[in-house]
Amino acid sequence: MLTLGNHAWARKELLPYLSGTERVVRPANLSRHAPGRSLAVGTATDGTPVAVIQLMGWLFLEVAAGPFEVVDELVEEARAKAPVVLLDFHAEATSEKIAMARWLDGRVTAVIGTHTHVQTADARVLPGGTAAITDAGMTGPHDSVIGVKAELATQRMRTGIPVRFEPAEGGVRIEGVLIECDPDGRARSCEPVRVPVE
Ligand SMILES: [Fe+2]
Repeated sequence: MLTLGNHAWARKELLPYLSGTERVVRPANLSRHAPGRSLAVGTATDGTPVAVIQLMGWLFLEVAAGPFEVVDELVEEARAKAPVVLLDFHAEATSEKIAMARWLDGRVTAVIGTHTHVQTADARVLPGGTAAITDAGMTGPHDSVIGVKAELATQRMRTGIPVRFEPAEGGVRIEGVLIECDPDGRARSCEPVRVPVE
């Protein structure tokens, strides 16, 4: 399954697809009047149902509702459908992502932070059995400013004049997090993934 984020509406041609797909999840706290689903359920290779949900952080992002306003209901809905529940928390602030993981500890399998593109060194399993990482990192070109050609990003920051961003090419890496869990959804381990390592 795939999760989106604050760029969910960037490609208008994707909107009709979002209304029909069972596999793509958009943040639950974007407008309820916009298309797309905020909860999807897939099946693991051993047959265990796995629910994927996504929320967006409040700080510096445009949300229709604060993440903590909607998270409990969303988690309840996901848990009714699957023992394994993954939350992608797409947010800017490390504090907001850590607070969400703590709030959900013991109620979901994992709270995986995204959006800031830089993998954090805090992959862990919390005492209640929830795996967490503040940011899973970026799969893409790391010889860049979070994926954008460095010279274009710095030009915009130095001058304040909008520049058309282009993706960089060098230093491509896969980053993410590998989580092992029991069939009841309790996380056993949470390890960052980085390929190649340097
Ligand atoms: Fe983002």
